[in-house]
Amino acid sequence: MGGLLHRAFRRIGTGMQDIRNIVILTGAGISAESGIDTFRSEGGLWEQHRIEDVATPEAFARDPDLVLNFYDMRRENIQKAQPNAAHVALAKLDRDWSGNLLIITQNVDDLHERAGATRLIHMHGEHLSAWCMACDARTTWRDALKHRPPCPSCGAAALRPDIVWFGEMPYRMDEIETALRQCDLFVSIGTSGAVYPAAGYVRTTRHYGAYTLELNLDPSQGSILFHETRLGRATELVPAWVEGLVA
Ligand code: OAD
Repeated sequence: MGGLLHRAFRRIGTGMQDIRNIVILTGAGISAESGIDTFRSEGGLWEQHRIEDVATPEAFARDPDLVLNFYDMRRENIQKAQPNAAHVALAKLDRDWSGNLLIITQNVDDLHERAGATRLIHMHGEHLSAWCMACDARTTWRDALKHRPPCPSCGAAALRPDIVWFGEMPYRMDEIETALRQCDLFVSIGTSGAVYPAAGYVRTTRHYGAYTLELNLDPSQGSILFHETRLGRATELVPAWVEGLVA
């Protein structure tokens, strides 16, 4: 324990020169300036439904038309959106950083990869993927699901959005946990810190000795846990931070 604290102190005290392994967590705020609505800025309501009421397996069992319609609309919207300067800056960092780097996104849009990022995990799934509940196949999917199209693999009309709903396990948790334990710098961008397990990553990385930085429009729910918080728009904060890091 003493060793961990000493390591953390040394890193904070000596600034950025010790940093080799970077983990970046992104949330809806990084895509806000691309025109994609965040979840909680308008009270988390979608046509009078709480987000939790459309993003659960129970909601899907109760009213599949409502849930498929919700995700069809969002899938359509993200395909009209373009990556912004924050996505582009992270893609550049991904390309240029010779140490380990992992972008963990809670977002289900594809703007990080369209900007060019490759070291990326979609922990909450992806809009452009459909998951067959009959045969378990995953298929790249751009169109609507509400008309119950057949699964390209087995033909069953059993496709659902490949999105992690509340109560389901986020994807690739083992890889994420390993990266969190090894990182020297943890940066959280555009997330409210309202949804676990991602909201707990600042505690984990601090525990293992990382320096922790938050870039967000407003202080997140866990803002006090970060070593440093910078407030502002992602399209301004993220390029400036990347420039400072690689300079
Ligand atoms: P939220 O909508 O909860 O939070 C978005 C955050 O982005 C807020 O803290 C805003 O202050 C910030 N923000 C808004 N505009 C910004 C901008 N231009 N620049 C920088 N920051 C900005 O979204 P998430 O934290 O991503 O889960 O939500 C987490 C999860 O809750 C989502 O992945 C989703 C949702 O339920 C699933 O679908 C499983």
